[in-house]
Amino acid sequence: MDGYFLARGLHVAAIVLWIGGVAFVTTVLLPAIERAGGHDEQIALFERMEGSFARQARWSTVLAGMSGFWLVHSLDAWNRFADARFWWMHAMVLVWFVFTLMLFVLEPLWLKRVVHARAASDPAGTIRLISKLHRLLLAISLLTVLAAAAGSHGWGLR
Ligand code: HEM
Repeated sequence: MDGYFLARGLHVAAIVLWIGGVAFVTTVLLPAIERAGGHDEQIALFERMEGSFARQARWSTVLAGMSGFWLVHSLDAWNRFADARFWWMHAMVLVWFVFTLMLFVLEPLWLKRVVHARAASDPAGTIRLISKLHRLLLAISLLTVLAAAAGSHGWGLR
């Protein structure tokens, strides 16, 4: 298998682990937590369970980014970023950038503290807000998966 095919396989595998995990947290874990226990326990439960996913999300995001740029390089596709028909390429980089910022910068440095402070005064509202943000991120990610899978097989060019 040459580098291009390996990068393609690794890219898709990384996306499956990463966005699939986000889908699980959003559609299964968060609704179950919202139904469980008292409001004070919900945030603690969410942090314990999502904490284990955060490690998987971090390395799969790195792998998706590295294999993605490897693909751009092997396809020599840098000029696509100057062509609006390839908006799904911009969408991929945007989704990757938002998650990278959240997982490596905002969450460890700032978000965790803010969530704790907000949860102390309004635990139910905080878990609802977390759910809403997860639904938004999942919707944007799935739209990107759809457009990238279709676009990389010729959609929009003929
Ligand atoms: C730094 C970030 C990223 C870069 C540079 C990147 C780059 C690429 C490139 C160059 C391709 C191949 C396009 C082609 O064959 O014409 C590709 C395919 C694809 N990417 Fe990304 N990508 C990135 C992040 C993402 C993200 C965040 C997602 C999902 C939310 C995603 C989903 C996909 C999918 C579904 C394909 C199509 C795979 C296939 O059908 O074989 N990528 N990506």
